[in-house]
Amino acid sequence: MQDKELKIEKIRNGTVIDHIPSGRALKVLKILNIDENVKTTVSIGIHVTSKKSGFKDIVKIEDRYLASKEIAKIALIAPNATVNKIKDYEVVEKYNVVPPSEIAGIVKCSNPACVTNANEPVVPEFYVISTEPIRIKCKYCEREMEGGDIIQNII
Ligand code: CTP
Ligand code: ZN
Repeated sequence: MQDKELKIEKIRNGTVIDHIPSGRALKVLKILNIDENVKTTVSIGIHVTSKKSGFKDIVKIEDRYLASKEIAKIALIAPNATVNKIKDYEVVEKYNVVPPSEIAGIVKCSNPACVTNANEPVVPEFYVISTEPIRIKCKYCEREMEGGDIIQNII
């Protein structure tokens, strides 16, 4: 049978972030500071069929390996993602992402009255108070945030 599907190519070296909830790939790129100035090849699949169930997003970044801090940030918006380290076309390591216990400068506080939203440049910081579902608490105003509130406020 002729294969009419266009698949995202396998990569030789780099990182594959798989099982991202459908629609969140662009947020993952934002977390990793991947923008129009990127110097390595990045392939993105949005709303692709998942072997496991339904749909997922997938991001493949060539010639870049992620720091554990970056992987932890991804956990905030994609708690079931897997990060695969690829060397010479083989998956040499596979991690399930784990949320960090504290975060700084990734999410903006959703309380407009919070000092982090005033004119002073105060970096927003949160405690991660629960991981399933992710719930975070502002260190400054104690506002608790979860779900869509976190996603919308990613800086
Ligand atoms: N992959 C890739 N390039 C490679 C090797 C793997 O892009 N050289 C991708 C695969 O397409 C897959 C992911 O990396 O999306 C993980 O690969 P693998 O562990 O081989 O796939 P699965 O067993 O399906 O992974 P999982 O059980 O995590 O779904
Ligand atoms: Zn706050």
